[in-house]
Amino acid sequence: MNRIVAPSLLSADFAELGAAVRMVNESEAGWLHLDVMDGVFVPNISFGLPVISAVKKIATKPLDVHLMIVNPDKYVSDFKKAGADILTVHYEACTHLHRTIQQIKAEGMKAGVALNPHTPVDVLEDILSEIDLVCMMSVNPGFGGQKFIQHVLAKISKLNDIINEKSLSVNIEADGGVDLNNYKAILDAGANILVAGNTVFSSSNPKQVIATLAH
Ligand code: DX5
Ligand code: ZN
Repeated sequence: MNRIVAPSLLSADFAELGAAVRMVNESEAGWLHLDVMDGVFVPNISFGLPVISAVKKIATKPLDVHLMIVNPDKYVSDFKKAGADILTVHYEACTHLHRTIQQIKAEGMKAGVALNPHTPVDVLEDILSEIDLVCMMSVNPGFGGQKFIQHVLAKISKLNDIINEKSLSVNIEADGGVDLNNYKAILDAGANILVAGNTVFSSSNPKQVIATLAH
């Protein structure tokens, strides 16, 4: 699978969102990662549909929208209209995950499932053939700038084995605490998509950080 860097806008300066999106446009990033939080599924509120619509007007990279919300199935077509290209829902938030995945695909988006750090990868066995991406949370979702949870490396490697055994091509995205010291180990474990918020946006040269992560 191709390596993709997906900078997370959560760590950008929200007063200068346009500049942040343009920086990502000009960088070697493959996708732009957008974290939607509802204050219920996670203990934080970020941004929602109107912000994504505004970002879509100027973004040149596919929008990778990560929903940290309860009842995501209610909003699938709204996120499509707002401009999502990839829509990821949490395993822990979906009672009827198969149906939600079919809804996402019927809207013409790529479908992803995110797993919290404590959720075993085995629970995805019967949905893997239906999805494009697994988002492996390597922090507890809700905030940028947290420390990478080491145990997630073993989960990524186990998931990679399951995907290979089934001869599937499912992207594995690592989300949370990805930095310049650990990204190689994350790729070696089997992830091919690197989400990076704080590592990119706290740098004085964010485009260079994206380029390093991409090569
Ligand atoms: C956490 C979000 C992440 C976050 C990553 O709940 O899902 O996408 O923005 O930020 P960093 O890279 O700073 O951990
Ligand atoms: Zn995310």
